[in-house]
Amino acid sequence: MSTPTIAINAPAHVHHTRLLAWVQDMANLTQAAHVHWCDGSQAEYDLLCEQMVASGTMKRLNPSKRPNSFLACSDPSDVARVEDRTFICSDKKEDAGPTNNWMEPADMRATLNPLFAGSMVGRTLYVVPFSMGPLGSPIAHIGVELSDSAYVAVNMRLMTRMGTAVLDVLGDDGAFVPCMHTVGAPLAAGQTDVPWPCNPTTKYIVHFPKTREIWSYGSGYGGNALLGKKCFALRIASTMGQAQGWLAEHMLILGVTNPQGKKYHVAAAFPSACGKTNFAMLIPPTGFEGWKVTTIGDDIAWIKPDEQGRLRAINPEAGYFGVAPGTNMQTNPNCMKSLDRDAIFTNVALTDDGDVWWEGMGPAPAHAIDWQGRDWTPAVAAETGAKAAHPNARFTVAATNNPALDEAWDDPQGVAIDAFIFGGRRSTTVPLVTEARNWTEGVYMAATMGSETTAAAFGAQGVVRRDPFAMLPFAGYNMSDYFQHWLNMGERLSNTGATLPKIFTTNWFRKGEDGKFVWPGFGENMRVLKWMIDRIEGNGNGVEHMAGVTPTYADLHWDGLDFSAAQFDAVTSIDSQSWRDELALHQELFDKLSHNLPPALVDTKASWSAKL
Ligand code: GTP
Ligand code: SPV
Ligand code: MN
Repeated sequence: MSTPTIAINAPAHVHHTRLLAWVQDMANLTQAAHVHWCDGSQAEYDLLCEQMVASGTMKRLNPSKRPNSFLACSDPSDVARVEDRTFICSDKKEDAGPTNNWMEPADMRATLNPLFAGSMVGRTLYVVPFSMGPLGSPIAHIGVELSDSAYVAVNMRLMTRMGTAVLDVLGDDGAFVPCMHTVGAPLAAGQTDVPWPCNPTTKYIVHFPKTREIWSYGSGYGGNALLGKKCFALRIASTMGQAQGWLAEHMLILGVTNPQGKKYHVAAAFPSACGKTNFAMLIPPTGFEGWKVTTIGDDIAWIKPDEQGRLRAINPEAGYFGVAPGTNMQTNPNCMKSLDRDAIFTNVALTDDGDVWWEGMGPAPAHAIDWQGRDWTPAVAAETGAKAAHPNARFTVAATNNPALDEAWDDPQGVAIDAFIFGGRRSTTVPLVTEARNWTEGVYMAATMGSETTAAAFGAQGVVRRDPFAMLPFAGYNMSDYFQHWLNMGERLSNTGATLPKIFTTNWFRKGEDGKFVWPGFGENMRVLKWMIDRIEGNGNGVEHMAGVTPTYADLHWDGLDFSAAQFDAVTSIDSQSWRDELALHQELFDKLSHNLPPALVDTKASWSAKL
């Protein structure tokens, strides 16, 4: 079947033959009505936002309350990442591993091709060139997303370094990861558009690691559609890291400076909606005068060894796509201040004065329009449980809006990591904080981490599942090989004589018999962070138990917080029966991952079991 050739309107300065040919092929395949090359300018952003306001995709918020900010509400079928529709199409199934969906690459291409054919009829194809990492940095990598969503284009401008400057760095022959995206909702002649086009029945989020390609069909939301984020910076980048000796991780990066002015850097992996944004923007509480925490990143870290064998981390992103519900001036003031202006909100409620509201933001308005466009009042909510904002409602904002932004956030060299933290969301069993006695034990702890599922992914909520390294939905290759890669990195670095970062696990989420969180969390997490720094400096105490080292009540700094020894016991106690059950779940994971499972992890499990 021959299809008409589409005019791609490439800017005169673009001479990149492969890029031009790919855009031409994709325009012909999708039969887009227009092709627009994004320059990344403010004027372009403003224009696209205006167009989306006119078409009903976005609402402009009250400029006197929230200047230059917008609200978008998605289709109710398109509200989170779709893990069951996410595929790693390596040549061999075992290279995707038992934790990923897999399809033979040729079969997947045969599936996708007819879906993408004609998928952009009646729509504009946006060419979105972006850099993950500082422009031109040796650690950065470039992608080009082709998308029929203007919402994606403007979000990519906030989340990445996007536009003409990227094409300049790419030159005539530079490498880029092709990221193909359609909402999967072609518009027939005369058909009126809906506010949030998507395909309610068919979604595919597909990765071809060998050719480093991404194909996303049917969703316009978050990690399904902003392809620089999970698809590129985690799934594809993790395979690049495995081949090239570096790490792409689901981690925040923060700087913490003590009152003497000494600065440390910590990278922390918590599963989706488990506190990365909050921890990255932490404000030290009363009792921590002179301490300062600064943000390098809130979701993704790319980490490479330098010539001295130190691990240096950059944040490949340039903005935050963060969870709105629960964010307020007490839990995360820096985040709230970041959202004062220039933000895009998705799936929160609209107040009568043209501002936004979500559960846990503060006093409820007497009336609002909920994320599905329905009237909402506190009385109706009390009766029906109706949420004003979707639990996975999010904001998008540039990092430069963050008052706690670290001065090195854009440094192409990255920052040297002193500690890694892995932290799940667990109502029971797992202590507030535990230090691994060595790198292998730390890898074991990260590999076996469990966490209760959240609204960040479509599916059941609050179910404990293993989420190794907080990477279960994001590892682009076999999870056992990924564990081995971490062990190899440790061995390689210690052979250079470098001091390896310490590894800790945390759990902010233990609940008491009343069903409430016992640990106050948020800014108070500073107390745990300080203990980690004490341990790095060799002057913090703790007690050793089967699963590592945990502080006693006396080992934490309590000035400014009323937290009793009994409460501390409730968040740190080790219950033998719970741990027997926990280790049975570790074994279940290891049975699933038996192909290529590193023997060192099996040995660590045996040594823990022996101590129970
Ligand atoms: P992704 O963007 O999905 O990767 O998530 P994230 O890890 O950045 O999650 P975020 O920081 O946005 O937190 C999600 C939810 O956890 C919010 O509702 C927060 O209010 C809540 N939260 C964050 N930190 C804490 C904490 O220390 N204690 C408690 N109880 N809740 C927390
Ligand atoms: C996550 O789910 O971990 C996120 C949000 O950071 S999304 O970009 O939608 O994946
Ligand atoms: Mn995330």
